[in-house]
Amino acid sequence: MTTAWAHTNIALVKYWGKRPSAGLNLPAVGSLSLTLDRFGTETSVEIADHDAFLLDGHDVENNEAQKVFLFLDRVRALAGRTEKARVTSTNHVPTAAGLASSASAFAALALAATRAYGLHLDDKDLSILARQGSGSAARSIFGGFVLWHRGTRDDGSDSCAEPLTTSLDARLVVVRTTSGKKETASTQGMEHTASTSPFFTAWVDTHPQDLRDAQAALAAADLPRLGEVMEHSTLKMHATTLAARPGFFYFQPTTIAVLQAVKTLRAQGTGAWATMDAGPHVKILCAPDDAAAIAAAAKAIPGVVGVDVCAPGSAARITA
Ligand code: DP6
Repeated sequence: MTTAWAHTNIALVKYWGKRPSAGLNLPAVGSLSLTLDRFGTETSVEIADHDAFLLDGHDVENNEAQKVFLFLDRVRALAGRTEKARVTSTNHVPTAAGLASSASAFAALALAATRAYGLHLDDKDLSILARQGSGSAARSIFGGFVLWHRGTRDDGSDSCAEPLTTSLDARLVVVRTTSGKKETASTQGMEHTASTSPFFTAWVDTHPQDLRDAQAALAAADLPRLGEVMEHSTLKMHATTLAARPGFFYFQPTTIAVLQAVKTLRAQGTGAWATMDAGPHVKILCAPDDAAAIAAAAKAIPGVVGVDVCAPGSAARITA
């Protein structure tokens, strides 16, 4: 039995939309993220007489399990082996928070399953493999700030992530605004947007400049510049969903209240910038010294159900 841990990551410059590929999960745009120290997935893989998937103590037999078994097929093909396996995963996230992430799930599975089948992939190849389970998982192989290259090749061999060096330290204050599950999963949300939103072309065309700005901000350890481009990328991504047909959105009333509070904090002189993914929660980027005050301000907003301060986290690793 091999066990691996991978942390969740949050994109600062977002991945949203795929380019056509036969199941390879190739992104329409690159992205830049921060791996968190708090939330993540622990996954064990052991060779067994049939494929099975246990999540948080329960047998899973739905589409989620099919995705896991298809992923095992990829690993078996790489390893030239045919035995089945039992996958046991535990999500370390606040209960029913809608934060359980396919990023940490497929990064942990990529690492645990390759080792269980006797493969020792380097980080680049692990990132390419994890990407095929879920795009954002390519980034959770690495710790800290991470760049996932869009790549141009049809076989996906250049669409991998890599860690970025920076002297910037930062915190992400994760503000949970509901306790339910999200309504439109990211895979479906981005597919519907790419095929129906007239704003999607503008998203793809303007994205490379955002990535360059974010990388320059990291190189200069310039938090305000990074925060500004992160908010821009976030609101632009959500604008593509509003213009889809039919349009949809991930905002809840409390989401808007938190976004307003971030603007107010900034107007009062606190460096705070907001991002959201395919769900109603808000993550606030800030300097380490400001995190406690921002968390306290967020907790005081009516409707907020939980607040966690996250620091940069480490790369995926084998734990047993
Ligand atoms: C909004 O990685 O969950 O969080 O590749 O279809 O599994 P699939 O999608 P996924 O999408 C993440 C979208 C996002 C932005 C991001 O993390 O970059």
